[in-house]
Amino acid sequence: MFKSKRIKYAIIGVGRMGTVHAHNLYKKRVSNARLAAVCDISALALDKFAKKHPGVECYNKHEDLLNCDIDAVIIAVPHYQHLTIARDFIKAKKNIIIEKPLTVELKDAQEFCKLKKKYPDLKIAIMYNQRTNPLYAKAKELIKSGALGEIRRSNFIITNWYRPDAYYANNSWRATYCGEGGGILLNQCVHQLDILTSLLGTPVNIDSRISTINRSIKTENDVTAIMEYKNGAICSLSASGHEQNGICRLEISGDLGRLVIGKCKMVLYTYATSEIELNLSTLSGYGRSKKQAKHYRYGILRLIRDSIYGQQIRIIDNFTKSLLNGADLIADANEGINALEIINGIYLSSWCEKKISLPLDNNLFSKMLEGKRNEEKTYILKR
Ligand SMILES: NC(=O)c1ccc[n+]([C@@H]2O[C@H](COP(=O)([O-])OP(=O)(O)OC[C@H]3O[C@@H](n4cnc5c(N)ncnc54)[C@H](O)[C@@H]3O)[C@@H](O)[C@H]2O)c1
Repeated sequence: MFKSKRIKYAIIGVGRMGTVHAHNLYKKRVSNARLAAVCDISALALDKFAKKHPGVECYNKHEDLLNCDIDAVIIAVPHYQHLTIARDFIKAKKNIIIEKPLTVELKDAQEFCKLKKKYPDLKIAIMYNQRTNPLYAKAKELIKSGALGEIRRSNFIITNWYRPDAYYANNSWRATYCGEGGGILLNQCVHQLDILTSLLGTPVNIDSRISTINRSIKTENDVTAIMEYKNGAICSLSASGHEQNGICRLEISGDLGRLVIGKCKMVLYTYATSEIELNLSTLSGYGRSKKQAKHYRYGILRLIRDSIYGQQIRIIDNFTKSLLNGADLIADANEGINALEIINGIYLSSWCEKKISLPLDNNLFSKMLEGKRNEEKTYILKR
């Protein structure tokens, strides 16, 4: 399929994240991959990049790259432009990695996936780097094997995305409905919501509340949601970007066992008797069955390596292998839809101040998001 055994990448957007991807490729941190070109509409960003990375071709319009000799592009620009640019590269028959989130609105993601279907020979992935965390992969395997029995409850605490005002002030598109399309939920928690949907699927309804605590931003930095699954299981989610010393902790409980997943370790508790049997067989007292605990770790060396954008390198490495040898993608772009449905659903429930059901009412969501963008424009004009 490829003339050379090395994949030639171009990076679209060399801001904070695009520069990391470009730098990793430039430094040959991904086998059989090289950086062929970068593109940014900001002359300043291109200049800054070129000074530190001599020899890389620089472009100021992605359109100029459509007919270039490249095999794949990584799109690392603000959210609303992800799919506009991706559509152009699909039509130019280039393989694509799209930064998360796939886009802002579920309906646009759905349309994009329909278009993607027409190009089955192209690989299109999403940068869901947290999927490379071996604990989440193990958790998926354990749940699938039935180790927890029927899932009844899950709690996700995501408070490890601390962002001060300076972070938002640094970049005008951040934490705005017009530029980013949402706040902490869409930008940061999309990673964990992807993990949640890959472990437990999509809920049938959502009741939520979002708010902004101690920041001069229009979008949220605090989220509370209750989600209900088809079998009646409940997931409660709390996320914030204003708590110091935050954590990321997911607990999933079923009638046969419980998983507690932290940042670098996970414990599986399994019971000798299912809760259903325990309840029936306990004729007096409080009831208890034997419990076993099994511990899993991220692995200290891997954790250190991954902490400096190592997970992102793993996604590009997997993508390269998928192009060269047909390896399965860790995160196909189609899977970008699932977390987006929950995220849009949490916003909608909060804006409507009521429980909403999924599948999402795309028209209502679009209308309400448009309202938020208009409010924001009025607010900016009044300042
Ligand atoms: N996977 C991760 O861990 C991770 C971490 C941070 C950011 N991101 C994602 O990466 C993307 C970029 O975020 P960032 O923090 O680097 O933002 P950024 O603002 O630092 O960089 C974006 C760059 O894109 C450029 N740009 C804008 N429109 C463009 C266009 N049409 N063509 C070419 N360049 C264009 C801007 O000039 C800017 O240099 C976002 O989707 C964000 O959510 C992912």
